[in-house]
Amino acid sequence: MKHLEDKITQASNLESLEKIRVELFGKKGALAAEFAKLKDIPGPEKKAFAEGLNKSKAALQAVFDKQYEILKAKEIEAMLKSEEIDVSLYGNVAQKGALHPVMETMDKIIDYFVAMNFAVESGPMVEDDFHNFEALNLPKYHPARDMQDTFYFNDGGLLRTHTSPVQIRTMLQSKPPIRMIAPGSVFRRDYDLTHTPMFHQVEGLVVDEEGKVSFANLKSILTDFLHHMFGDVEVRFRPSFFPFTEPSAEVDISCIFCKGDGCRVCSHTGWLEVLGCGIVDPNVFKSVGYEGVSGYAFGLGVERFAMLIHQIPDLRSLFEGDIRLLEQFR
Ligand code: DAH
Repeated sequence: MKHLEDKITQASNLESLEKIRVELFGKKGALAAEFAKLKDIPGPEKKAFAEGLNKSKAALQAVFDKQYEILKAKEIEAMLKSEEIDVSLYGNVAQKGALHPVMETMDKIIDYFVAMNFAVESGPMVEDDFHNFEALNLPKYHPARDMQDTFYFNDGGLLRTHTSPVQIRTMLQSKPPIRMIAPGSVFRRDYDLTHTPMFHQVEGLVVDEEGKVSFANLKSILTDFLHHMFGDVEVRFRPSFFPFTEPSAEVDISCIFCKGDGCRVCSHTGWLEVLGCGIVDPNVFKSVGYEGVSGYAFGLGVERFAMLIHQIPDLRSLFEGDIRLLEQFR
């Protein structure tokens, strides 16, 4: 008996205890063998022998149960220890993303005009000749088409070279008054320090009854807008030409790098050209069937703004997806 009890209490884990259980209590185990002897024991002694056996069995079972409890508790403790998490350890720091500088600049531009009650319109990037050129007073063979090197499709479709076609689409779809901007991607066959084949523009258009929209309105809102984007700069309107506006102007700000003294960025002029604008040409209104209205329009390149604001020397770096560049704008 004693040696069986020792065997149980010496089991060091549940696995070996299970083996012992089979050896002792199993069908072919030690106890079963003892009970098998019963049939050979003469009648009078049978009862005492059986009682003795039952007592031993109960005692062994008690020892076994106790050992099982002990080993089970040990196993749980070991498991908890192995799965322990040190909550004081540093975790992996999650990397915070950021808006791409072009999108951030775009948002800032849109925010300004939305606050000024402009609606945000959009149009397709794959355009046709009518919306991209004809309706904007750029007839076929007009030399001004050369200003925008175009990607054409075989079927005569093209990738829009500016966001101005959204003017046309919006006017064809609605009636004046109109007060809209159109942000979006545009495409030109161009690739150098300051040009990429895809870039972004924001177009603006305001149309109302004849006499209600003036060049003075245009000048005042664009001056305020440029102060919003570049802070305390001087703004000047310089006569220029666009087929869709007459008169037209290009707008310059005093160079934000040299404060107008002249430097490499402003080609020693003290000025930076930032957008084009003008009074909508009557031919544009004719092409969309508008009469008795006047309006102003403007267009700007978002990358140009982003490059100036963030002092990025090569436009192409904005589209290379180099994380080291983008990380600087977090
Ligand atoms: N569409 C012109 C461009 O891509 C920008 C522009 C200039 C738009 C003058 C206008 C405008 O609406 O009035 O260069």
